[in-house]
Amino acid sequence: MGFNIAIDGPAGAGKSTIAKKVAKQLGYIYVDTGAMYRAMALFLLKEKVEPKDTEAVNEKCREADITIRYENGEQVVYLNGENVNAYLRTEQVGNMASVTSANPNVRKKLVELQQKLAAGADVVMDGRDIGTCVLPDAEVKVYLTASSRVRAKRRYDELTAKGEVCDINVIEKDIIERDHQDMTREISPLRQAEDAVLIDSSDMTIDEVAVQIMELAGQKR
Ligand code: DC
Repeated sequence: MGFNIAIDGPAGAGKSTIAKKVAKQLGYIYVDTGAMYRAMALFLLKEKVEPKDTEAVNEKCREADITIRYENGEQVVYLNGENVNAYLRTEQVGNMASVTSANPNVRKKLVELQQKLAAGADVVMDGRDIGTCVLPDAEVKVYLTASSRVRAKRRYDELTAKGEVCDINVIEKDIIERDHQDMTREISPLRQAEDAVLIDSSDMTIDEVAVQIMELAGQKR
């Protein structure tokens, strides 16, 4: 068994930035589980599957072969043999993933893949159900959150830096909706594991959060 660090929390809390940083500092592998749900969503979009049609999603998701490789220290997601990293981080794919990730067959398939990755290596894995379902025995569990306003502001700054015109109130509304969807779904809803440490990053820098997580890891090793 590897040493496992699980980081869960709502969208925009800074999980991936922080998980990547902690992994790099510790020499661990960073596993981005959201990217796997996004790759599955991309496949279902391409196949024109109606996301709310449970039967159709259950059937179609079997045809998606999702594998992970590490190239130059980066996680690369392959969907039926094709590197799809460049297509995963769009709003359309994110919205599809938010719906289709609630499907039991989708989750079963991807959770198995995640557990396999963690069994063989030291990992920092981020997602929504890592501490509660995927790695219940993880040595370190963190629930990372921030207020919806702060998360919306971060997203707004990101988009504005790319030259996109956007409205922070619309972004915040989307974030609140996404949270609600992720927290109220039937299977593996987003919630803090009982033994997870809560970190609210609203008034913290990335480095401060990373240091706190590395301290938690240090205490366990
Ligand atoms: O973290 P993200 O935005 O890349 O995640 C995309 C979607 O996948 C999000 O709506 C929640 C879902 N997800 C999940 O259900 N379980 C995970 N472990 C990771 C992501």
